[in-house]
Amino acid sequence: MTDNSPIGIFDSGLGGLTVFRELYSLRANENYIYFADTLNLPYGTKSKPALIQITSKILDFFETKKVKSVVIACNTTSAAAYETLKDNYNFKIYPIIQTVAKEFSLLPIKKLGVLATPATANSGAYLREIARYNPNMEVFEEPCFDWVQIVENSLYDTDEAKKIIEEHLFSLLDKKVEKIILGCTHYPYLLDKLSSYAPKEMFLNPAPIFAKKILEDLTAERLLSDFETEKTPEFYASSNPENFKTSSKFFCEFKEVKGINSTLV
Ligand code: DGL
Repeated sequence: MTDNSPIGIFDSGLGGLTVFRELYSLRANENYIYFADTLNLPYGTKSKPALIQITSKILDFFETKKVKSVVIACNTTSAAAYETLKDNYNFKIYPIIQTVAKEFSLLPIKKLGVLATPATANSGAYLREIARYNPNMEVFEEPCFDWVQIVENSLYDTDEAKKIIEEHLFSLLDKKVEKIILGCTHYPYLLDKLSSYAPKEMFLNPAPIFAKKILEDLTAERLLSDFETEKTPEFYASSNPENFKTSSKFFCEFKEVKGINSTLV
């Protein structure tokens, strides 16, 4: 059995592309629809009810696209909205935190750090999900204010960026964590900056594990397509699609990034 319906994937902006790139490199012969909710960016400072409402509208949008599954390439909405909405749709929904937690719980370490948006960190989602598999691991979640804006606005080399990166990273390093999860899909873009303070191997990007797990599950559920060639992904942005088109080109290595339309959610 196969299924040629699209796979939806969303985030507030550029962050989810770190997941999308992994998925596309493992399996390009699927119809992917990427939705960047630039209208509501940033998610990380919003309340749980607001995030549930935003997420349900995006899932409704994907329902109109007749998707076979939706990838929540966003830690914040995985933490705030997935549990509430997961049974409301007849397609599979893959949340990033819940999908990768088991893998991280198996790390042979005692102290794990998580850099995340304020909404993710304050929800305690990583601690809770990892404790389901390994209650003995100590998990420290650090709310990183404004890191998403560094990535979205390419402010990597500013003094302000340096200051806020140091503030939150040092707070975790002081706790003597052995590994650090990049618990927001925007943060892998900061890896070069982060690794000037600690070894690169210390930082864990959930995206490759997440993509692998999604494809394993789609295979087990017999939901993969039978397309024999690569498909061109479709991109949508909820505000300023031209801006997203320009900035996403910088992160996605496609010869062609097209079809970014404004759509109402
Ligand atoms: N990239 C998202 C995440 O993983 C959301 C970031 C934001 O918009 O605050 O949490």
